[in-house]
Amino acid sequence: MRAAVLGHPIAHSLSPQIYNRWFSETGFPGEYEAIDVTGDAFEATVRRLVALGYAGVNVTLPHKNAASRFADFRTAEADRVGAANLLLFRDGKVVADNTDGEGFSACLKTGSAQPYPRTGLAVVLGAGGAAAPVIAQLLPGDIAIVNRTKTRAEDLAGRFGPSCSAHAWDELGELLPRADILVNTTSLGMKGQPPLEIDLSPMPSGSVVDIVYAPLETPLLRDARARGHHTANGLRMLVYQAVPSFRAYTGLTPSDPERTLLDLEASLR
Ligand code: ATR
Repeated sequence: MRAAVLGHPIAHSLSPQIYNRWFSETGFPGEYEAIDVTGDAFEATVRRLVALGYAGVNVTLPHKNAASRFADFRTAEADRVGAANLLLFRDGKVVADNTDGEGFSACLKTGSAQPYPRTGLAVVLGAGGAAAPVIAQLLPGDIAIVNRTKTRAEDLAGRFGPSCSAHAWDELGELLPRADILVNTTSLGMKGQPPLEIDLSPMPSGSVVDIVYAPLETPLLRDARARGHHTANGLRMLVYQAVPSFRAYTGLTPSDPERTLLDLEASLR
């Protein structure tokens, strides 16, 4: 069985390490690779992998929205969030699914992004394919979506109803005093990408989550930790969105994802 993760950039991806470890732990005969694919080549690459007999692919930045649109079928979750991080190839057809919500939920429930449930505002930075499943997990409650391109934030807010509001980047300072959780879903701060430069001083307390995991501690998280916030990096989300993906590929559940997480964390420190 062959599967892959498609994205751009992709060199930093830890997904091959995770899946190949689980193949070897479960004895399932599989191979998993990372393939660098830019936007223009995305559909042709997926078609080629379908023809080659791959079981499916995971999809990351910047293809999550395109993946959902292009699939022949969508699960209820992919439909709800309008984005896919998993494409399964079944009888030559492409089925879009989204397991990022499960990954983010693991961050909230067992990660260090406590306390939860929240009472204040959730501020989500970004309105791309990674933002929607995060927002779905943060509901119910007030959510402010802050994005460079405000129209994208508006589209996303419209998808999730009246408790979600859309904001431009320069409104962040007015939102943070009411925030009890801030989540970065943009690529800013990732190795090789521009830095995420925000002033956390208006945020009194609460959690700061960065879905970026390369580097493990982004400048945002370092600053948040120094200010006494609960923080969580993107590694837990990565591992726990991979669990249902692995199950979809193989029918098997990895026996100890927490150990996988700890080992990866140790190797990145
Ligand atoms: P993904 O599928 O992982 O969400 P995406 O759909 O390309 O990837 O979304 C990337 C997110 O990072 C978007 O919110 C994007 O903002 P825009 O909608 O304005 O493009 C945000 N982002 C990427 N580069 C950025 C930059 N230099 N400054 C501000 N936001 C940026």
